[in-house]
Amino acid sequence: MGAMPDKILVTREIPEAGLRLLADFDVTVLAERPPTRDELIEAVRGASGVLSTATEKMDGEVMDTAGEGLRVIANMAVGYDNIDVKAARQRGVVVTNTPGVLDETTADVAFVLMLAAARRLGEGERLLRAGKWEWWGPKQLRGFDVWGKRLGVVGLGRIGQAVARRGRGFGMEILYHNRSRNGEAENELGARYLDLDDLLRESDFISIHTPLTDETRHLMGERELGLMRETAVLVNTSRGPVVDEAALADALEDGRIFAAGLDVYEEEPKVHPKLLELENVVLAPHIGSATIETRDRMATLAAENLRAVLGGEEPKTPVES
Ligand code: DGY
Repeated sequence: MGAMPDKILVTREIPEAGLRLLADFDVTVLAERPPTRDELIEAVRGASGVLSTATEKMDGEVMDTAGEGLRVIANMAVGYDNIDVKAARQRGVVVTNTPGVLDETTADVAFVLMLAAARRLGEGERLLRAGKWEWWGPKQLRGFDVWGKRLGVVGLGRIGQAVARRGRGFGMEILYHNRSRNGEAENELGARYLDLDDLLRESDFISIHTPLTDETRHLMGERELGLMRETAVLVNTSRGPVVDEAALADALEDGRIFAAGLDVYEEEPKVHPKLLELENVVLAPHIGSATIETRDRMATLAAENLRAVLGGEEPKTPVES
């Protein structure tokens, strides 16, 4: 009799492209919706590998419940703030993520939000659908131009650079703030490095692309929002808690900034109730990487990483920490 196949837990229904690669394992796939904590704990027992998504909190308790056979957590996301990487390292569990396959797709959504917020698209569509659009008007629904303006990118990693390239296509001047300077990107994009406060003061559009860490939690709070121009637009496609949502809602309500475009929230799927009432914020339900092609690439890469570790090889994209 051959050895029993490793037990794999896939915490959500993922694209077939990824599942196909796991066909020779003993795979349990949970539901389309996120599992409850109890469901996750119950399902993880005995797993050698877990293919998780950003909605599952993978902490030491989950790892211990899986047991000593757990070797890999392959996150189908570039962000891995849902995983306690330190706890994984202590238990000899390899953590992987999916960088590099969703940059352009997520940058598209950052630009969609930037354009929609600046040009008041959501507000216009709501007016039209409510049957309240009565005429074309010379002063109706005027927003701000995006082309030719200053774009401040906070976090000039892969996604930030993809957003900056789009900005260049719109004739924008690129400012950036990052943990460290990136000379290559400065040359390629003509990007100018500024400290965060100066970037906030000088930018017309600010797009956030930092991971969520202890340092970036509420990076954009009341003080930072107060430094922005009254005509500025803030876009967040990274992680919700990087922005203090209550402070943002107040700034938008008081007209201290012009508009915002959000794809991520502090307590997803909950959205701050005040934001839901405001006309000058475009709200998307965390769809940054949601295309057929990119979700296939993410599922494939996560499955490849998981296979590699269980096969005793180096995964393509381990989380280094
Ligand atoms: C990511 O890849 O981090 C996206 O936000 C989906 O979770």
